[in-house]
Amino acid sequence: MTEQATPLIHMERITKHFGGIQALSEVDFHLNASEIVGLVGDNGAGKSTLIKVLSGVYSPNEGSIYINGKKVRFEGPRHAKELGIETVHQDRGLVPGFQVAANLFLGREKTRFGLLRLRYMDQLARESVESLGIEMQSFRAPVMNMSGGQQQTVAVARALSANPKVVILDEPTAALAIKEVGKVLDVMRRLREHGVAVVFISHVLPEILLVTDRIVVLRRGQKVGDLMTRDSDQDLVVKLMIGTEVVGCAG
Ligand SMILES: Nc1ncnc2c1ncn2[C@@H]1O[C@H](COP(=O)(O)OP(=O)(O)OP(=O)(O)O)[C@@H](O)[C@H]1O
Ligand SMILES: [Mg+2]
Repeated sequence: MTEQATPLIHMERITKHFGGIQALSEVDFHLNASEIVGLVGDNGAGKSTLIKVLSGVYSPNEGSIYINGKKVRFEGPRHAKELGIETVHQDRGLVPGFQVAANLFLGREKTRFGLLRLRYMDQLARESVESLGIEMQSFRAPVMNMSGGQQQTVAVARALSANPKVVILDEPTAALAIKEVGKVLDVMRRLREHGVAVVFISHVLPEILLVTDRIVVLRRGQKVGDLMTRDSDQDLVVKLMIGTEVVGCAG
């Protein structure tokens, strides 16, 4: 760890294997409030596995997770969410045939006297999407008819509606138009302003260098880089991803 203070999240010596495949080997990873951390690495480096451990999808074989210095053991994704960790997976996890509000409130629908409060949910959905600065004309259309960027917004809005401490975005900008990418990056900046810790996974290094405060590099299941973005550039990050160098990983 580079910081003196207790980090919001500390994953300590996380090891995960799937049969004979060592997906993660003793990876240390921490997150502070109001910080955007880029998580990068070549295909198969272990990025998704690491965030699945952090979001309660996988239990690590070895290692510990601390939230504000307190050791936790996730019983599953729901438990991680209850502790303030929201994840937008690459597939976005939306129900294609459902409208925006139905997707936003999936599994936690608003009811009164046992009846669904459809107009109220619609209103809340509209407010939360608009608060992300994204225009959306077709609130009543099934999300499968929306653009990639609009769907991404719905998925992010759903994650944010839980008031999380940590938001993990796994490849949120893949397949987005340039204008939409800018909006997703703006959403991350806004989250940081509100004290949220953001994990941003992307293969697009210029986006990573543009928006993050710190970059963590994985290579074949090991952490090989943990550096402030202001001290890094694309050449260095690529070298860490595919070369033999190691930076900032003492301890
Ligand atoms: N459920 C699983 N069962 C078996 N092996 C897995 C499983 N999930 C991941 N792996 C393996 O663990 C390693 C790390 O995979 P992971 O998906 O974490 O990589 P990644 O960095 O997210 O790659 P990408 O950039 O391609 O998404 C790979 O060798 C992968 O094949
Ligand atoms: Mg992945």
